[in-house]
Amino acid sequence: MKILIIGSGAREHVITSALLRDPEVESVVAAPGNAGMAALVQCIPIDVTDAHSIGELATKLQVDLVVVGPEVPLMAGAANELNARGIPCFGPTREAALIEGSKAFCKEVMAEAGVATALAQVCTNLAEAEIALDTFGSPHVVKDDGLAAGKGVVVTLDRSEALAHALNCFSVGGMVVIEEFLDGPEVSIFGISDGTTVIALQPAQDFKRVGDNDEGPNTGGMGAYSPLPWLGENVVAEVTERVLQPMVDEMKRRGTPFVGVLYAGLAMTARGIRVIEFNARFGDPETQVVLSRLVTPLGRLLYAAATGQLKDFAKLVWHEGYAVNVVIAAQGYPAKPLLGTSISGVELAEADPFITVFHAGTELLGGELVTSGGRVLSVTAQAPTLNQARERAYAGVTHIEIAGSHFRSDIARNACTSDS
Ligand code: AMP
Ligand code: GLY
Repeated sequence: MKILIIGSGAREHVITSALLRDPEVESVVAAPGNAGMAALVQCIPIDVTDAHSIGELATKLQVDLVVVGPEVPLMAGAANELNARGIPCFGPTREAALIEGSKAFCKEVMAEAGVATALAQVCTNLAEAEIALDTFGSPHVVKDDGLAAGKGVVVTLDRSEALAHALNCFSVGGMVVIEEFLDGPEVSIFGISDGTTVIALQPAQDFKRVGDNDEGPNTGGMGAYSPLPWLGENVVAEVTERVLQPMVDEMKRRGTPFVGVLYAGLAMTARGIRVIEFNARFGDPETQVVLSRLVTPLGRLLYAAATGQLKDFAKLVWHEGYAVNVVIAAQGYPAKPLLGTSISGVELAEADPFITVFHAGTELLGGELVTSGGRVLSVTAQAPTLNQARERAYAGVTHIEIAGSHFRSDIARNACTSDS
């Protein structure tokens, strides 16, 4: 099987590594890829917002499957373009990706599907926003309706900050979703869907705030671990039955079947499981820890999903133990990351065979590895216990030097108990 993967983050790097472990995968080409992926596969520059170029490249390379990593090409219609050319695509059409592209649309589908989520109000002006903020009370949750790379959500005790975010979104012609605050630990579960059948992967937890103890602004994600030793054994089955399958059924009923990763961001509240959001793709950094532990050949799984053949797919197999991922971010991230800073120590970290350093915002400039984005590297470690995986990941991080960079020091800390 010949596969083209679209994207340039650590998520695409780990997907590429997992695809290359599949004996049925003959070759992988990445577009545009990054400096880390270039060490594994051929990388071809591309504008990921241009669905036509993605289609042209897939046709030219005569690939059997295209895997689309990020949401931007999906919303630009990459899957529509590939479907029209008869090329199997793992990733939803623009119409199905709208569950991520519009939070208001997603709420509507959840309501139809009977999926439990936060009560919410869609607002288009100041007066509506004020009423909604007072209806739901503090802490306030205000979400930009459209795509915002994980940074469009403000959760705050401060009503004026909540209102300022709403006004900001209105000023560029957008709408916001204001909703009730969901209290409880967060869990990410990825459902692999072929449009009819959905298979859940093992759960992960992501750390979205930039600073330790969940302080500071939201980011794309600063670290993750999987599986979750504290999570009840039936949660994955319950989420499949009550969240993933109803959404897949409802999207099919609407004539816009969802093919790809249905990513459920969940809050484990005292009142039960509630959906915080859906995304239309693998999560980053959760994918680094989830796919690192997958034994089942990934190419075969994604091809089966892209071609409507998941119904009879064998049960997934996982490595024992745990994986922990720590993101190293450039100085100034998330507000204004400093680019072009030199990076060293990746080989030293990877001298441990249970550590992989996935690249995100990196590039080679005149032979030197430098930062080219906010989240720079994703240091991922595996070990028999969560404690060991955590220690190993942080040991890897100490080898990496990037002036002014930062990382969270508390990834997976609270989940580490004496017997995990
Ligand atoms: P989203 O982009 O919708 O995933 O939101 C980003 C982050 O904001 C989530 O991972 C949560 O940490 C937080 N968040 C979003 N919605 C809520 C909510 N209703 N209650 C509490 N926290 C939320
Ligand atoms: N880790 C959060 C996301 O991928 O949206």
